[in-house]
Amino acid sequence: KAGRRPLVAGNWKMNGLRSSVSVVEAVRNGLTPAIHDAVDVLICPPSTLISSCVAATYGSPIAIGGQNLHAKPSGAFTGSISAEMLADLGASYVIVGHSERRAYHYETDDGVHAKALGARRAGLCGIICVGETRDEREEGRTLDIVRAQLAIGVPKGATAADTVIAYEPVWAIGTGLTPTPTDVAEVHASLREMLGRLIGPEAEKVRILYGGSVKPSNARELMAVENVDGALVGGASLVADDFLGIVNAYA
Ligand code: G3P
Repeated sequence: KAGRRPLVAGNWKMNGLRSSVSVVEAVRNGLTPAIHDAVDVLICPPSTLISSCVAATYGSPIAIGGQNLHAKPSGAFTGSISAEMLADLGASYVIVGHSERRAYHYETDDGVHAKALGARRAGLCGIICVGETRDEREEGRTLDIVRAQLAIGVPKGATAADTVIAYEPVWAIGTGLTPTPTDVAEVHASLREMLGRLIGPEAEKVRILYGGSVKPSNARELMAVENVDGALVGGASLVADDFLGIVNAYA
């Protein structure tokens, strides 16, 4: 849409042991040249599997990404991983500010901003996640919430090369529920407009993904929505055939 190349990204969350690299191999084997021509494919496994997933996709256009990062390049931050470390392993993307990080690790919009800067510093593309909770939607505050998350989270001078946005309504994640195409269109249009205020004409080039219970059966309908430039897929990305089904819908 408007020259934006679709991106289908799998977020494995805290799932996968070494044997799960076979899922990446199956995805690699299932992607045809025609699909690669039409869509970017990304898999974000747990950090423990990044190296082996990079090896398993070597020579293929599948990108590998991290699910989180520390904003600083290095230092006394036990247990944390920097953007530089992810890049060093061969990752090219990193998810920033996923709602599970916000909910369980108290990440703030300012923290998201710092992490997005960290991603850019190391040459990674940051996938900045925004989304409202069920209460916020019921209170009619969806657009206010996601626009504020975007306004604080997106660094100045963000470009399509270093930034992707993902709209993930919290109530749609892992629940099987999805917003209607009309609701998705409303939020994505509002995000695009807000991005325009933040970064000017570059906003037209930045991809805005939808995430939350994307499956092969609803992917086509969601992709058809204006301003939806791909998907951020959780559960269905753990099964090669399901993930491939979604990628095909976006091709
Ligand atoms: O980041 C992707 C995610 O939060 C959506 O999860 O399982 O609803 O596809 P799921």
